[in-house]
Amino acid sequence: MGVQKGAANKARLVTQTTLKWAATKLLATRYSFIFPQFFRVYSPWFEEAFRRDVFAPVSNLTLLTEDRCYLLDRLVRQTALLEGEMAECGVYRGGGALLMARAIAAARSEIGLPPPELHLFDTFEGMPETSGADADVHSAGDFGDTSLESVGKIMAPFPFSTLRPGLIPD
Ligand SMILES: C[S@@+](CC[C@H](N)C(=O)[O-])C[C@H]1O[C@@H](n2cnc3c(N)ncnc32)[C@H](O)[C@@H]1O
Repeated sequence: MGVQKGAANKARLVTQTTLKWAATKLLATRYSFIFPQFFRVYSPWFEEAFRRDVFAPVSNLTLLTEDRCYLLDRLVRQTALLEGEMAECGVYRGGGALLMARAIAAARSEIGLPPPELHLFDTFEGMPETSGADADVHSAGDFGDTSLESVGKIMAPFPFSTLRPGLIPD
């Protein structure tokens, strides 16, 4: 009886340890699962390091979701290695711009080059009037809870970025 109980405890311990290992290695890292088929899906934005180092610093300043921030970060790190200036059209509260500036600074310092100009275009007062071919799903005044000053403060540590207030494409 005692031997059976000992074996059952050991089996339970092994199962628990295996499940914990699987949860740490699979669920909390770069794969998620599609239910109910349980296909593994590459989802690196679930990684702790990405959430902590890239997403958390911008999350309350952007409308971009984690997966979009991940893609933006990867694309900016790659394109920042090329020659030329960079821009964001539609800055709103500055989270996307902050992510871009951080990615540019990191990528360029790795290759020992100064960062390129980052131009940030927006009204910084919300959506302008749109009509005709320019009609938008958003209305005039949407995204108005921002300002040139607030975005300027966020971007101050990145002197290679310039706020360009006004109407796009003017
Ligand atoms: C969806 S928000 C941008 C989201 C932002 N990239 C982020 O990280 O959360 C769109 C922004 O574009 C601005 N915008 C839209 N049309 C514009 C135009 N024609 N000229 C200037 N700004 C415009 C809006 O005021 C708003 O701030």
